[in-house]
Amino acid sequence: MSKGHDRHLHLGLWLTFLDAAEWRDPASRAEELNSLQPYVEVAEIGERAKLDALIRGDGLGLPLPDPEQAFAGSLEILTLLAALAARTERIGLIGTASTTFTEPYNLARTLATLDHLSNGRVGWNIVTSIAGEEQFGYDEIPGHEERYERADEFIEVVSKLWASWEPDAVLVDRENGVFFDPDKINTIDHHGKHFRVAGPLNIARPPQGRPVFVQAGDSEKGRDFAARHAEIVFTAQNDIGKAQAFYRDVKRRVERQGRDAARVSILPGLVVTIGGSEAEAQELHDRFLARIDYERTRRNLESLLGGVDLSDIDLDERVPEERLPEAGALTRQPGRAQIFIDLAKEKGATLRRLLQALGTAHGHGRVFGTPEQVADHIQRWAGARAADGFAVSPAQGLAGARLFADEVVPILQDRGLFRREYTGGTLRDHLGLPPVP
Ligand SMILES: Cc1cc2nc3c(=O)[nH]c(=O)nc-3n(C[C@H](O)[C@H](O)[C@H](O)COP(=O)(O)O)c2cc1C
Repeated sequence: MSKGHDRHLHLGLWLTFLDAAEWRDPASRAEELNSLQPYVEVAEIGERAKLDALIRGDGLGLPLPDPEQAFAGSLEILTLLAALAARTERIGLIGTASTTFTEPYNLARTLATLDHLSNGRVGWNIVTSIAGEEQFGYDEIPGHEERYERADEFIEVVSKLWASWEPDAVLVDRENGVFFDPDKINTIDHHGKHFRVAGPLNIARPPQGRPVFVQAGDSEKGRDFAARHAEIVFTAQNDIGKAQAFYRDVKRRVERQGRDAARVSILPGLVVTIGGSEAEAQELHDRFLARIDYERTRRNLESLLGGVDLSDIDLDERVPEERLPEAGALTRQPGRAQIFIDLAKEKGATLRRLLQALGTAHGHGRVFGTPEQVADHIQRWAGARAADGFAVSPAQGLAGARLFADEVVPILQDRGLFRREYTGGTLRDHLGLPPVP
């Protein structure tokens, strides 16, 4: 387990109630995709299990003309989290926002507002985005390196904005009619390559000082960016050996930045299928695989791999090595592409296996089994220093979230691996992170 300040696992719950492959099921609640209620139910399940946080990604475009892709067009996450802040008390709320397609001043306001409304429970999943250029006036998506360069300056600006109000700036002195002390609110006068921002922010310092920084981006540049800034690293890993190497590598990079590696939690995504018996779990998993639309998923894989053509390859054949790109040459998602290139090259995966890995879990790890087996998997990865916890995504929608909370979490608690009660009020408290000075 992670050494140092905190021996507990950290667990996030993916904020969704409907698996993309199951929306056509007559019993699904697909009509409620844009309603608050099902998300409240997920949040309540997570909070009852004392999970660290709800977490969810966000995209910036609708991949037309694919009529199946309703999921790409659902609620904007930070707005949804504002509603959930009012319906929950303790669980952390982690939302995704792009440094490429937002401005630091806007996002600093939004996240500060959310942190106030939730009494300090907000985390920001910082992404540089894989798409969105068509909506924001670019001919092409800015290059990988440029996106990360802008992201660094973005972090510098928002951090200065959140710090622009000193902790004791708000006075509320009714007698003298002084709401805040102007001497304790400072301009930032930032002049950089990408941004010019005078500041100060027009909202008081957030309760956590600033939101918890979560980072998602697996490439070399992404790892260096995580080493500089992240307090949680959200990553896609589906092989324990590779996850261990990633874990060691990121923690080493964090130390090289002079930061405490024990205060950076590495949380791979984990798609979980839970059955009452091993046989039932296997059957549920098989059903999960049977729902994959191979044709559509192949198109997604082709696009992830930079536009290769795999249409002539039989599902049970291997993808010839010469068809696989150098991940480093890809602009959008080189880190994620590498996972599939490795599966094909090193593990000899057939096209069918690649599509199953993409179609069920987007390259994240998967586990199916009884609650004990799922708990064993989590314990094994954490014990092997492949993870400090997981961002859990139940394959069975809301029912799966309930099973995880009611059947798996108690086992982790009995094994002394997970908290039985929240000990603090903020996301920073749940993660064992000190206040921001
Ligand atoms: C686990 C994980 C989750 C991500 N989630 C999102 C997301 O929700 N929205 C988004 O625009 N990008 C997301 N990204 C992509 C990031 O924008 C990332 O910056 C991009 O993939 C390029 O960096 P990389 O090659 O370092 O992974 C995610 C990446 C990873 C690794």
